[in-house]
Amino acid sequence: MSARLDWASGAGGALHGSVAVPGDKSISHRALMLAAIAEGRSRIRGFLEGEDTRATAAVLNQLGVRIEAPSTGERIVHGVGLHGLRGSTQPLDCGNAGTGMRLLAGLLAGQAFDSVLTGDASLSRRPMRRVTDPLASMGARIDSHDGLPPLRLHGGCALRGIRYELPVASAQVKSALLLAGLYAEGTTEILEPHPTRDYTERMLAAFGWPIMFAPGRARLDGGHILRAVDVEVPADFSSAAFFLVAASIVPGSQLRLPAVGLNPRRTGLLQALRLMGADIVVERQREAGGEPVGDLVVRHAPLHGIELPTALVPDMIDEFPILFVAAAAASGRTVVRGAAELRVKESDRIATMAAGLRALGVAIEETPDGAIIDGGPIGAGTVESLTDHRIAMSFAVAGLRSAGPVRINDCRHVATSFPGFRELANGCGFALREAG
Ligand code: S3P
Repeated sequence: MSARLDWASGAGGALHGSVAVPGDKSISHRALMLAAIAEGRSRIRGFLEGEDTRATAAVLNQLGVRIEAPSTGERIVHGVGLHGLRGSTQPLDCGNAGTGMRLLAGLLAGQAFDSVLTGDASLSRRPMRRVTDPLASMGARIDSHDGLPPLRLHGGCALRGIRYELPVASAQVKSALLLAGLYAEGTTEILEPHPTRDYTERMLAAFGWPIMFAPGRARLDGGHILRAVDVEVPADFSSAAFFLVAASIVPGSQLRLPAVGLNPRRTGLLQALRLMGADIVVERQREAGGEPVGDLVVRHAPLHGIELPTALVPDMIDEFPILFVAAAAASGRTVVRGAAELRVKESDRIATMAAGLRALGVAIEETPDGAIIDGGPIGAGTVESLTDHRIAMSFAVAGLRSAGPVRINDCRHVATSFPGFRELANGCGFALREAG
């Protein structure tokens, strides 16, 4: 990771144009992993060239998988088959990626060899018991530092399927257990308190693994094989989210976001913004690579505060930092509850957003599982991203409505999920520059 990078974001006037945001992070991680253990050669198009997904590619490469990158956003993965991965004597560095580490923990728990999964300072503070505990009940042996990375996975453990009710709604945990289930004897069944993104299930089915899934549950048996397929990755709704809010809060704006993934387990923000009065239309709705996609057209509209329905929380889990900015720019009060998971993301996203918005003069009260935000003028000031990519991009959007420049400290992690964000943003009218 490069040296420190700070940004200054200011009001640049109305936003216009077409913004092609990069590929979906969740799908890119999963495509690499399943293609790696499939039989044959898979081509991935629309692959996210982010640091998180490249870290996963590097780990798989270290485990003996040949991955070619013939062009930007394209990968050809030469699958080694379910039992073809080779152990590495070196730690496997997942970088900043919680998805990478948790899914790889599931994938590697049932291998014949030992592995050590490490990550950067932020990832090293993120809770791993949520995956290591259920994996242990499948028969895995995993050492951690009091539930934190690095994770040392012992090879040669015979896994058996379990029926597991997730205590928190987490697609990462569900996916880790399903990946371990591929190597387990018998049936692995996962029940969720709220349905979460089902990319792992859909993709396992596409790679030919028999799996039963419905919202909130998934079940598979060990002992089958995966067959290579080509994967088309849609644009990442979570990256599109910054532009949806930006155009909504800047008068005179209109943006088009082509071919964005619209899996219903990801689009809670769309519903939340519409409840707030946003003008967002989906055009050319279609299927691509087995996923619903559409072009999003967003026009400026005055937003008002809402009590966010808690049922939307799991479907917009990564979008709360930018929702908080929308709420700050809206008239009236927005209340968020039931989102305690935000405290264990790349940063404590409730605390980080509250500190930043307060520094810009916004009235925000933190609660244990959410926040109460009173919309109004946004002032100039300096905020800390705490190296959290989504916090940095959210405050870049806040700068569009602030009375003076917003300085955002430590933005280098934006490239984990959204390489080229600054250039794309400036291309449609942001005034976002490196701060001296
Ligand atoms: C992800 C699941 C979510 C999300 C993360 C990506 C995934 O995490 O916040 O950015 O790809 O499965 P949790 O499973 O911890 O909710």
